[in-house]
Amino acid sequence: MDDKVLEEKQIMAMRVLVTGSASGIGRASAHALAAAGEGSSLLLVDTAQDKLAEVSEELKSKGHRVRTLACDLSSPAEIEKVAAEAETFLGGLDALISNAGVLSNAPLTELSLDSYELAFAVNTRPTWLLAKACYPLLKAAKGAIVATASISATQPTPPHGSYSASKAALVMLIKQMAFEFGPDGIRCNCVSPGTIHTGMTDSVYGDEKLRAERAANIPLRRVGSPEDVAAVIAFLASPAAAYISGVDIAVDGGISTALMPTLRKGAVPK
Ligand SMILES: NC(=O)c1ccc[n+]([C@@H]2O[C@H](COP(=O)([O-])OP(=O)(O)OC[C@H]3O[C@@H](n4cnc5c(N)ncnc54)[C@H](O)[C@@H]3O)[C@@H](O)[C@H]2O)c1
Repeated sequence: MDDKVLEEKQIMAMRVLVTGSASGIGRASAHALAAAGEGSSLLLVDTAQDKLAEVSEELKSKGHRVRTLACDLSSPAEIEKVAAEAETFLGGLDALISNAGVLSNAPLTELSLDSYELAFAVNTRPTWLLAKACYPLLKAAKGAIVATASISATQPTPPHGSYSASKAALVMLIKQMAFEFGPDGIRCNCVSPGTIHTGMTDSVYGDEKLRAERAANIPLRRVGSPEDVAAVIAFLASPAAAYISGVDIAVDGGISTALMPTLRKGAVPK
């Protein structure tokens, strides 16, 4: 590689923090962001320490600097530790990918208070607390925040009532951040995945019959991959999205267009 190309690649090398990066969309995003340059620095955060170590080895073998942090993001004190590590290990922050999430699985009439609180403590609050704690780093780098919301933020999704509400709050939080942080050059956006085969959804999409049934209702006729979402996260974090802030991009194979065809079943093309 000649010097000029190498120099351009190095300029693209990013300092990135990815939560929920032991698995699924977070893991694929860590790879996609690292691949944007050579010698990227990544701080990977998750509760699943063993799986984090695997992702770390994969990225290190490709020449990237990686630090892992086993951390429960529902704890504000742990989030302070993440921010401190971002400063010491990354030395700055070009992209905060706030992706960790949990499902809540109960109809609202049966949902416990703890499950309700947990959905917001994992799916919503950490994006605010991480952004707040990392603000000086993000401001200095004119960095980007990308949060993983869900099409459930805009579509009621039984039996995940507190999950969908927590994701709706996340989308508005990101818009609020875009407004408040924009003057400091920090861009804030989210992606809303639809039906993606990951650890979270393996009980459904890992089953061939259920997967085919779901795929038949998706305009693009397939369940998505973590890489489908990671590509959009990497785009939103990159300079290519320099004038995009406050948006929520659905990555769902077109399923969120399906309300009227669902009402008029005969209108769905075979
Ligand atoms: N898979 C889908 O179809 C889908 C659809 C819409 C939105 N999402 C969202 O995508 C994001 C990533 O999920 P995924 O589908 O890759 O699932 P996943 O289960 O493969 O990954 C989620 C990761 O978050 C981690 N995590 C959970 N709670 C945590 C906590 N308290 N602290 C730290 N880490 C924690 C898990 O250990 C896991 O590694 C989530 O926010 C999820 O809500 C997924």
